[in-house]
Amino acid sequence: MKEIKWGIIGTGTISTTFATALKSMENTKLVGVASRSLSKAKEFADKFQIEKAFGSYEDMVKDADIEVIYIGTPHTEHKANAELCIKNGKAVLCEKPFTINASESEYLISLAKEHKVFIMEAMWTKFLPATIKVKQWIKDGRIGKIRYFRVSFGYKAPFDPNSRLYNPDLAGGALLDVGVYPITYVVHMMDRLPDEIISSAEFGITNVDEQNVIIMKYNDGVLADLSSSVAIETGYDAMIIGEEGKIVVPKFWSAEEAYLYNHKNELIESFKKPHHENGYEYEAYEVNNCLRENKLESDKLPLKDTLEIMKIMDSIRKDWGLEYPQEK
Ligand SMILES: NC(=O)c1ccc[n+]([C@@H]2O[C@H](COP(=O)([O-])OP(=O)(O)OC[C@H]3O[C@@H](n4cnc5c(N)ncnc54)[C@H](OP(=O)(O)O)[C@@H]3O)[C@@H](O)[C@H]2O)c1
Repeated sequence: MKEIKWGIIGTGTISTTFATALKSMENTKLVGVASRSLSKAKEFADKFQIEKAFGSYEDMVKDADIEVIYIGTPHTEHKANAELCIKNGKAVLCEKPFTINASESEYLISLAKEHKVFIMEAMWTKFLPATIKVKQWIKDGRIGKIRYFRVSFGYKAPFDPNSRLYNPDLAGGALLDVGVYPITYVVHMMDRLPDEIISSAEFGITNVDEQNVIIMKYNDGVLADLSSSVAIETGYDAMIIGEEGKIVVPKFWSAEEAYLYNHKNELIESFKKPHHENGYEYEAYEVNNCLRENKLESDKLPLKDTLEIMKIMDSIRKDWGLEYPQEK
């Protein structure tokens, strides 16, 4: 099987987690890491025994050995970083949210098409075995017609006006950081877009949404009750309730388990599968497979799905009047 050669842009939290996943995979080589600082790149390279450390993102995209680049920078940098990769013929796996808004996503999608380069959003939740099992239970009619979702992703990040979570210059706020997960989850499980969305948010002193609630309504009688926060713990679970039963997914965004109940609230099936490494390997398998098959996008996470989610988040932000400085 062809070995796929990766590079990583950015040396922060998620790049470290993703590098750990890549290092655990067969027929996969982490060849390079790029940072805005050469010393940080070298430190990261030492930690993961990576052959090449680059002191600029521009230098790494010119390396002929590297085929695909993972982008683990703040949301505001995704467009420029992905553009750099695409223009240099590198395939891209770009962290969520794909970009800060739909128009940036549209630009990257058309640029990738023009350059015939693979690109995918790193929405890893879609590739988890537990997510796949939940979708199968729904398809098999195990809970009957879906009527209600309750999905939350809220955690307490210490307040720091300069951090990417609270700083508007880095497109801070709960919606783009974690709200993207509940929205994506419901659309993925329903296999279609909602007919109506209403929402509300609480803004902190940096003027980004520290917490929000979103209701997505489908005209055939399905309501989804979603929330996200970077300021308080609101839980991490997904509950999907149908006319014949319900599914509960603890920590749905990183799930290793899921539970199926009948309408009497009796547990009828459990699914448990610990990640091989940390869960980020599944999205990387998908990228490797697509590259081996010379695909320009994943059938499991098509670019149109990514774009639709970005459009939903744009419309929600519009209702709140939340514009980032880059958009003004
Ligand atoms: N999939 C997931 O589970 C998951 C989890 C966490 C975060 N994320 C996503 O991953 C992205 C990065 O999040 P993170 O928590 O890893 O962030 P982080 O710890 O702050 O790391 C981001 C890295 O990006 C680079 N960078 C480039 N321009 C920057 C700028 N203007 N300000 C700060 N850093 C900059 C820095 O690396 P160098 O200095 O080395 O260039 C920095 O270490 C976000 O889009 C986030 O939504 C995804």
